[in-house]
Amino acid sequence: MERIFACRVDELEPGTTMTVEGPTPVALYRTEDGDWFASDDSCTHEQFSLGSESDLEDEEVVCPLHMARFDLRTGKALCFPATIALRMHSVVVEGDEVHIELSETVADGPDVQVASSAAADCAVA
Ligand code: FES
Repeated sequence: MERIFACRVDELEPGTTMTVEGPTPVALYRTEDGDWFASDDSCTHEQFSLGSESDLEDEEVVCPLHMARFDLRTGKALCFPATIALRMHSVVVEGDEVHIELSETVADGPDVQVASSAAADCAVA
């Protein structure tokens, strides 16, 4: 598992996101509650950069391009037009440094639960 330095803790305010550049760009999220999450930077719908511009709502990220929504705890796509989960990575905070441990897993196809629950989830959003 490859580990990369992302930033210092004070470089990412709660409720904001950033892109960590590299061979595989990674979106780093810090929720309003101070929790850290990381995923591949590209939205699984049309490869929009989630780290550079997205909205955090509790532990969900909303892609502003077409409003797909993902669960940051699992990567699961919660509403259309995205149907494929984000690949999530582990975040390790050591002192004032934030590191990301890159996952080697690959998204394994459409998330079938999206089809049945997407309309309701998006209507609430
Ligand atoms: S590119 Fe993210 S919802 Fe379309």
